[in-house]
Amino acid sequence: MHSISKLPVIILLLAFVATAAAFTNQPAGKFKNLQVLPQDISEQKLDSIMESYNKALGVNCKFCHVNSLVFPGTEMDYASDKEPMKENARKMMRMTIDINKTYFYFNKEERPEYLSVITCRTCHRGEPFPEQ
Ligand code: HEC
Ligand code: HEC
Repeated sequence: MHSISKLPVIILLLAFVATAAAFTNQPAGKFKNLQVLPQDISEQKLDSIMESYNKALGVNCKFCHVNSLVFPGTEMDYASDKEPMKENARKMMRMTIDINKTYFYFNKEERPEYLSVITCRTCHRGEPFPEQ
């Protein structure tokens, strides 16, 4: 008798646990809108790639990213695609990955997205719009 009356409570608890697990089990990625880079990229790797774009093109993060709508003064919305330059950059990323994958894929342990024989810097040399 006693244990049967507890059943609904236990079921409710199990439901809570399942819901919590579903949330924490979301794909490893912390980033919301990656279409070229691997979903499971580490924060450190993503940061170093973004820093390399700043240097290679001689720009800052706002060249491709916009302010957050909620806290425009203090926060950026890096997942947003509002700045059209971001999509231009994706094309360039795909091209660069293609070149490396086709002609410089010597170490098969490496992810093709992370190959860096040809980089943005190879062509850009600190210029956002390199001359042909
Ligand atoms: C030349 C353009 C460019 C510059 C400069 C740039 N980014 Fe990015 N960033 C991108 C692109 C393109 C993506 C999306 C990559 C993809 O689709 O895989 C991205 C994605 C990101 C993301 C992941 C957002 C998400 O949740 O999907 C973060 C965080 C980020 N950038 C931070 C930075 C920071 C910080 C800087 C400056 C240090 C910076 N970026 C400079 C082009 C740029
Ligand atoms: C093989 C040479 C080459 C490589 C590698 C390269 N770019 Fe470019 N990129 C160019 C040239 C040339 C232009 C200028 C195109 C123009 O003026 O029409 C350009 C233009 C751009 C632009 C300006 C928008 C546009 O589409 O014209 C962005 C942003 C950009 N590149 C980002 C990058 C990023 C980020 C990387 C590395 C992931 C990269 N590029 C790698 C040659 C290159």
